[in-house]
This record gives sequence, C-alpha cells and structure tokens, in this order.
Amino acid sequence: MSYYQHHVFFCVNQRGNCEGCCNDYHAQAMRDYAKARIKELKLSGKGKIRINNAGCLDRCNEGPVIVVYPEEVWYTYVDQEDIDEIIESHLKNGQIVERLKI
Ligand code: FES
Repeated sequence: MSYYQHHVFFCVNQRGNCEGCCNDYHAQAMRDYAKARIKELKLSGKGKIRINNAGCLDRCNEGPVIVVYPEEVWYTYVDQEDIDEIIESHLKNGQIVERLKI
C-alpha cells in the first residue's frame, strides 16, 4: 500500500527556459490553496493526501501542470474552482476529472 493515498505535485517553477513557466499562472498560490484546503478537510497525512511543490516537470507548454500519484494523472487548471473540482472528484472520490486531464 502506498504511504499516501494520493501524492500531488504542483509545478511551481518560475525560472528556466520555459516561455510560460507554471508560476506565471499563479501556480504557487494554487498549490498553497490546495494544501490549505486539504488540511481544512482533514485529508492530509499518512494514508491520505499530500500536496508538494515541484520544480519544472517538463510539460511547460501544457501548464500550469500538476501530477497525481500513484495514478500518474496529469492535470492543468485555471483557477481555484478547477482545484476544488480535482480535490472533490479525484482526491476525495477517485473520479478522474477528464476535462482537466492532459
Ligand atoms: S515550468 Fe511547469 S512544467 Fe515546466
């Protein structure tokens, strides 16, 4: 069994050669929002959900990006509503959000 039920990595990269780095789309703020929301829902910790920062995940052109393990599902997002949908649908209920998948 995995240590975390879902381990979520937010690319928050700002520097590098990418033309539109994920943090140009408020990735750090979205990651902070997701982390706070998961904590608020009491879903964080061992056996549950972990939200982490990541450097460039090399999918800059499709960004901003996150990846959810162990399913290895990649998403992009625009705003907090998208993050809420990923939390509610995928992380809480195991339903992949097809419209945000990349
Ligand atoms: S800057 Fe986010 S994937 Fe490269």
